[in-house]
Amino acid sequence: MRATVLTVSVLSASSFSLAPAQHRRPPLKASVLDEPAKSTPALDPDGGVAVTDEEVARKFVYDFGEGKTDGNGTQRALLGGKGANLAECSLIGLPVPPGFTISTEVCTYYYAHDGTYPLSLDVDVKASVARIEGAVGKRFGDASDPLLVSVRSGARDSMPGMMDTVLNLGLNDESVEGLAAKTGNERFALDCYRRFIAMYGDVVMGVQQRHENEHEPFDAVMDQLKAERHKREDLDLTPDDLRELITRFKALITERSGEEFPQDPYEQLWGAIGAVFRSWGNDRARIYRAKYHIPAEWGTAVNVQAMVFGNLGDTSATGVCFTRRPTDGENVMYGEYLVNAQGEDVVAGIRTPKAIDEMKTEMPDSYTELEHIRGVLERHFADVQDVEFTIQEKKLYLLQTRNAKRTGLAAIRTAYEMVKEGIIDDKTAVKRIPADSISSLLAPTFSADALERETPLATGLPAGPGAASGHITFTALGAEAIQREGRKAILCRIETTPEDLRGMIAAEGILTSRGGVSSHAALVARQMGKVCVCGADVTIDYSRGTLGIGTTVLREGDFVSIDGTTGHIYAGRVDAAPSEVNQVLNGKLDPDESYTYRIFQTVMGWADKYRKLAVRINADTPKQAATGLKLGAEGIGLARTEHMFFEGDRIHYMRKLILAAEDSERRRAANKLLPFQRDDFHEMFNAMDGLPITIRLLDPPLHEFLPHESSARLALADKISVPFEKITERVAALQEMNPMLGHRGCRLAISFPEIAEMQARAIFEAAAQVVAEGGQVALEIMVPFVGFKAELDNQVNTLHEVAREVMAYRKVSFEYKVGTMIELPRAALTADDIAHTAEFFSFGTNDLTQCTMGMSRDDSGAFLPTYTAKEIISQNPFASIDQVGVGQLVQIACDKGATVRPDIKLGVCGEHGGDPKSIEFFHRVGLNYVSCSAPRIPVARLAAAQAALADEERH
Ligand SMILES: *[C@@H]1O[C@H](CO)[C@@H](O)[C@H](O)[C@H]1NC(C)=O
Repeated sequence: MRATVLTVSVLSASSFSLAPAQHRRPPLKASVLDEPAKSTPALDPDGGVAVTDEEVARKFVYDFGEGKTDGNGTQRALLGGKGANLAECSLIGLPVPPGFTISTEVCTYYYAHDGTYPLSLDVDVKASVARIEGAVGKRFGDASDPLLVSVRSGARDSMPGMMDTVLNLGLNDESVEGLAAKTGNERFALDCYRRFIAMYGDVVMGVQQRHENEHEPFDAVMDQLKAERHKREDLDLTPDDLRELITRFKALITERSGEEFPQDPYEQLWGAIGAVFRSWGNDRARIYRAKYHIPAEWGTAVNVQAMVFGNLGDTSATGVCFTRRPTDGENVMYGEYLVNAQGEDVVAGIRTPKAIDEMKTEMPDSYTELEHIRGVLERHFADVQDVEFTIQEKKLYLLQTRNAKRTGLAAIRTAYEMVKEGIIDDKTAVKRIPADSISSLLAPTFSADALERETPLATGLPAGPGAASGHITFTALGAEAIQREGRKAILCRIETTPEDLRGMIAAEGILTSRGGVSSHAALVARQMGKVCVCGADVTIDYSRGTLGIGTTVLREGDFVSIDGTTGHIYAGRVDAAPSEVNQVLNGKLDPDESYTYRIFQTVMGWADKYRKLAVRINADTPKQAATGLKLGAEGIGLARTEHMFFEGDRIHYMRKLILAAEDSERRRAANKLLPFQRDDFHEMFNAMDGLPITIRLLDPPLHEFLPHESSARLALADKISVPFEKITERVAALQEMNPMLGHRGCRLAISFPEIAEMQARAIFEAAAQVVAEGGQVALEIMVPFVGFKAELDNQVNTLHEVAREVMAYRKVSFEYKVGTMIELPRAALTADDIAHTAEFFSFGTNDLTQCTMGMSRDDSGAFLPTYTAKEIISQNPFASIDQVGVGQLVQIACDKGATVRPDIKLGVCGEHGGDPKSIEFFHRVGLNYVSCSAPRIPVARLAAAQAALADEERH
């Protein structure tokens, strides 16, 4: 019987299904050893290897089950995850078939000593086998009633790519007849034997596919026999057929490996043990370790355990169960089983397993026992368990238990409920919930019913979580028109630019065929909390007005649905609903009516109790600020002023300002913009009610504000009464080879002081007004793109001058801070100098990453996927901060800044402020706050708490 019978995919609730695992046959290719050991590495009785006294005295074999258990659950490093858990289960009295674990130290020894074992191992293994024999009353290799065992690998954490299991070990030509006689079931015995020979031939003797197109060799032999004998299913094979199959399997092994299939049970056992150790060094395992930073020295343990059989009739069964439902975390037993079956029957898909609920009526005693075990396991391991079990003639055995994989939703709910049930404390709950999964409580979703009916036609990068359905439009104007009619739009663009912003605001969702998760579309979508799928496998044709998804062609106005959590794209309309949490936050649902909301609030409360970092929002509008506050923001870490210039008529004045030939003309245009900005800031201050706001002065290059298509330039010429030629000329003049490193940030404000002055006046007048009205402001003004202290000095002088003036004529006074973004490597390296002027630093880690790496965020899509695939870098540095490189600059700037200004305020406002791994780093370097887009705020709160708790553990 195969123990690893069923696996459950828990990637997302909607895709959840109980699917049989692929029959894994890991190739046993390269060994760590130069000369791969044969199936039986020689034990050297003369002690050819130098063995210390300590090694002789050392314990290498740990018994478990049936009254003698040497290890326990804390010894994962020594016994592997499987071995430690089996020991622990035996200790607490759960029914585990007796066995023993050969420790990971033997694996280490094996690799250090040319594929040989410690001297004492042979004797210890024999003693432990004898103990199993005593416990089950059968003898290993007995011709009439043989003890059969399973041999399984077991690293600290389960690791794909390693040999996992050899079952029915101990059978040979003689004892198979004994087993047949003893059980009175010839077919059963022969079937066990042929499965054993095939598994052993594969994983121990290396009889495997030689190239990808070749059939698995044992399957090929079986198919051939079935064809000859006109049998369709495995179950149609008679004992006579199975005997022939066994003969052919053995012949195949001899032909391919040049060796006979071993008949001696101990030779079989040492062969399997060696195969487990060698599989630790095979290519797949090594690649996996490299990827997940698992040290080679950890090694794997080997578990040898008495076989139990789920296929001995209708009172036997095999199955898997979860102690809580892994899709949504509900506290019910969940799983499936098969009566009179071996695991492989499930794997081969011959029979469909039954839901565990049916066991209530079919095998009531076993069900009751399983329910009991569920409670015992959860209380003992204090986590949701994924259990493999076998029932042999009414007796239930546990073959394995481990912490269950689960969806984000289930992780949150089970952690919450386990605290309420007193199983874990709130710290453990906070540590256990993947920070990212919190966003699944906020995103709108397609209804589960709808998804059953629909098939995605294409997929892209999930860039803005949630679900949206709407009419296809290819232009910002179109999106606005659809919105005005009270309908929903999905803005479909090859890629988006700042000119599309209005359309993005109006649209329900954004779909692009180009760009990654850090493209303009993705950044803006996250910022605005829009559903977004980027770089999708679709064809967008603006001229024809079509969206091609595979062979389906949709037109402008047709319905399309996108899921920004999974990246799936559907033709037509799919029903969606806003998350309960959002309904409560927006006053559409009574908080007492939503269990999800209660979970959300409670978990956030726990996080706030432990975190040290403050969490702020990146918000450009009062509405975004209000959303941020509801989600727990403690201030605005980045208010970008440029987005304010795109709304309504303002863009015309902005364009006028840019096109102005003289200072006076520029000043007039700036003065037109001033009231708009002042009103915006006034609203923002009111929304924040005294919480800190960091306002960044104008940052992007001017050409981003100008129309690029000639039709749009014509319209503009008409609107602002400037000749078309002049506009075209000016647009051309503003064109830069490399705008990211061009005329932007404080460079603009230094060349055109009118812009900075207007912005300063708008900000201070708004603040003065709030103060005059009896309100409070905590104002921080941030100068972007500073590389030299003198740049900052220049801007700070303007700011102070305007502030003095405004306070004088408004007759109020208030405090404010002036600081800078640290986004250029030079600024980081000269942070001590800059700190003489700057009262705070806010790390603009997007630009700092671009400039440190010399890697454009918008162009890196061309090579980053290759770089991660070839493991040149392990992750996208725009999604998670490069701690080794860019992080060093952050650290330097923090340290240098503090030498000059010990109480300097430190924050981060780049996209990294919402990334859990980066947050952990920012906590460590001692920042005061992180700032991120609204939907990331709960994630950041949780991640900040996790960072603080991890810190606490280290000290
Ligand atoms: C588990 O075993 C180790 C090693 O023998 C021992 O130090 C530890 O106290 C044991 N833990 C428990 C909880 O029994």
